[in-house]
Amino acid sequence: MIIPRPQKINLLNEKGYSIDSIFDIEDLACNEIQDTTLPNEGYILAIKENMVELKYKDHIAKERAKASLTQLVKTCGQEIPAMIIEDAPKIQMRAYMLDVARYFFSVEEVLKQIDYLALYKFNTLHLHLNDDQGWRVEIKAFPKLTEIGSIRRRTLFRLKEHKGYYTQDDLRKIVDYAHSKGIRVIPEIDVPGHFQSAVASYPEFGCFNRNVRVAENFGVKFDVACIGKENTVDAIKTIIKELMSIFTDEYFHIGGDEVPSQRWELCPHCKQKYLALGCKNYNEFQAHFMNELGAFIINNGKTPIMWNESNPTGIIDERIVWECWDIDYNNEKFQKEIARGRKIINAKTEPYYLDLPYGINNLKRVYDYEPLVFEENLIGVETCLWGELLPNVKTARKKTFPRLLAVAERLWSNEKDYFSFEQELIQHNKILETFGVKPTPKWLYNPTGIVKIFSKLWWARRVLYWAGLPNIITNAKIKKKYGR
Ligand code: ACM
Ligand code: ZN
Repeated sequence: MIIPRPQKINLLNEKGYSIDSIFDIEDLACNEIQDTTLPNEGYILAIKENMVELKYKDHIAKERAKASLTQLVKTCGQEIPAMIIEDAPKIQMRAYMLDVARYFFSVEEVLKQIDYLALYKFNTLHLHLNDDQGWRVEIKAFPKLTEIGSIRRRTLFRLKEHKGYYTQDDLRKIVDYAHSKGIRVIPEIDVPGHFQSAVASYPEFGCFNRNVRVAENFGVKFDVACIGKENTVDAIKTIIKELMSIFTDEYFHIGGDEVPSQRWELCPHCKQKYLALGCKNYNEFQAHFMNELGAFIINNGKTPIMWNESNPTGIIDERIVWECWDIDYNNEKFQKEIARGRKIINAKTEPYYLDLPYGINNLKRVYDYEPLVFEENLIGVETCLWGELLPNVKTARKKTFPRLLAVAERLWSNEKDYFSFEQELIQHNKILETFGVKPTPKWLYNPTGIVKIFSKLWWARRVLYWAGLPNIITNAKIKKKYGR
């Protein structure tokens, strides 16, 4: 019937609501009453013979109730059994990240993704909007970011151009649509690393003003933002400021992940600033920059988020939320930060990165994982779809489903029962098929034997690009030119 499983279902011993073969929830006779005393996103549905009665906290809760009704209509056949559902989520922020930077997703595809998220009661969409391989948002102050930065000459999969970006009107449309479904949107501008598409557009944003191309292969690129130059830092603030007026929700993500320091170590501007700040290492150098941006975002009335991993320095402003892909109760770095009052979002790579193969993050592993860590400081949990190896929407969907449903259940429901979840999934395949999502067979989503081994090998080959032979060659050239 319903995924995620509602907190309480009371089946009534009476006739249910009969539905015709052509159905839409708009056709249901529904008696709606607002009840602001219900918990956040909470609703109560009473399904009777000719009438559905709905109590809901607010418009967001109403969307959650609508998702339950849509699923009932689509899975129950002729009659929805008479029942009372009382429901509200376990975890307050249930998020999904879509990487639109590596490969562009059209506005229509993003809206469709919002439909899926609403149907499975997620309330947060995080958009990873720029990376080495592409800049996807129109910025009025810096038009070359999209004129140049949104186009790459080829990709790992094809010797063909790939391009695309959202105009500011497109972005407003996405945000408005998400809000209509009770979903907030978190934009991410990833700085100072993963910034090569911006440096390709404006060479002066990087160290040495070098002409680089939008990255054509994958991996962590060395041409990061030159944070030794005030002009670059100001430009980044201008970009964020433009986007803050479009993305009207509370959070703004500033990336901060995987920042190699090779350019900074040779750049005269960076060296000068590094000394002026009295840094002991380049993690600290980056930390000063993240703190400056964090304060800028807070002064503009929003809450900054950053990926946590590169900053074990203990000097990151504790008002910046950490999104953690390696969260662990036993890790001293986290224990210290929690003690300082750091708020966190759990986005643990294994099992919540949906781009990882099923041989690593299989459906059962995703379902079984306990997402509540450091509960006192946890503001949410996120599952991420990175685009490095997903050259089209079809592959992206295969990775997302059915794992998204497993995450949905564990973030919403207090009950946990893998066996019955898997039974429900069969019903939900019908719903997904009406959306054009082909069901992933069990031998693929919980692979064993040779399929599992193959799946792991396929993933391992990615390391070749990630460590980056192209990086090593370029870096050697730059050292020769600018190094002492
Ligand atoms: C990340 O996985 N690079 C955030
Ligand atoms: Zn520099």
